[in-house]
Amino acid sequence: MQARSTAAVADCQAIGRHAVRIAVTGVGGRLGAQVVELLAATGDHDVVAVARRPLTVPVTTSIADYADRAALRTALRGVDTLVFVSSDGEAVNVLHHHENVVQAAVDNGVSHIVALSGLDADLESPFCYAVTYAHTERLLRESGCALSIARASIYTEFFLHWLVDAATTGQLRLPAGDGRISLVSRVDVARCLAALAVAAPTGRFHEITGPESLDLAGVAALTEHEWETPVRYVDLAPSEHLAEMARAGQTPWWMYAFSTMFESVRQQRWASVSDEVNRLTGRPSTSVGQVLAAHYSTVRKASLST
Ligand SMILES: NC(=O)c1ccc[n+]([C@@H]2O[C@H](COP(=O)([O-])OP(=O)(O)OC[C@H]3O[C@@H](n4cnc5c(N)ncnc54)[C@H](OP(=O)(O)O)[C@@H]3O)[C@@H](O)[C@H]2O)c1
Repeated sequence: MQARSTAAVADCQAIGRHAVRIAVTGVGGRLGAQVVELLAATGDHDVVAVARRPLTVPVTTSIADYADRAALRTALRGVDTLVFVSSDGEAVNVLHHHENVVQAAVDNGVSHIVALSGLDADLESPFCYAVTYAHTERLLRESGCALSIARASIYTEFFLHWLVDAATTGQLRLPAGDGRISLVSRVDVARCLAALAVAAPTGRFHEITGPESLDLAGVAALTEHEWETPVRYVDLAPSEHLAEMARAGQTPWWMYAFSTMFESVRQQRWASVSDEVNRLTGRPSTSVGQVLAAHYSTVRKASLST
């Protein structure tokens, strides 16, 4: 990776305070789309949505697959601030994608990168994506670009698919031990990324978490309360969890990703709570109970139709 000179970084920091063109990657996805919506709503910025397929969004779209370095370089032309929403899929590809995005930002002299990372970004973590995030943060530091790094906890909405299953069977069957998770609403992560994008680079990590850290017995109890259906946490042995995922037809990659994620949960790597959502956005973070309540009617409709 070719890094930027100190003078270029100083320029970046100065320009970053008055960003005019803000690109957001991963806009085909839920988080990136929310960030674009928030930035576009201000009307103060020239927002570019970067995605690998055409989108219906109220801003300019630039088509670039994370695997296509040349397309990324074109997409980031003239961009002051990049909101870098991480890629998805097998970790080795994700890392390659992230190298491409950071290189394209460096090639275009992007002033400020607001990067999405994970609360457990750590080369020592058992979780595959904690390792890719740690490598990506190193690439970002070496790029010489001014940075603001959002280390997000696990999204409550992402966790919902286990809770929807649990509401159907009455059992939340996962190998989390007594691990606690500071589940955060995806919309709060989007609001934080948007807030960081319109501010000067902070040069630090921001832990983006929900307002509380719950073990899965606590999450099951909340689900039971909000969705008015019995849900009990069953602490599976990791081998049992793998066998259940295989029986359900899960692919080998996602079996590996989920089993390493729950290993990191058992190690309490997702337990910390911060009030960064409030500090960055000026509004309190959304609780797990609020997200569950917002999904109540969808879940009831689904259960009535089965
Ligand atoms: N903290 C958490 O709980 C958690 C959970 C899941 C994911 N994540 C991370 O957070 C990111 C945003 O989350 P999300 O909920 O918005 O995920 P999402 O809705 O699944 O969106 C992921 C996006 O990545 C895009 N993508 C995948 N491979 C790509 C490629 N090669 N080139 C260009 N785009 C590619 C997909 O594009 P298409 O729409 O074209 O398929 C999709 O739009 C994810 O990408 C992942 O890195 C975090």
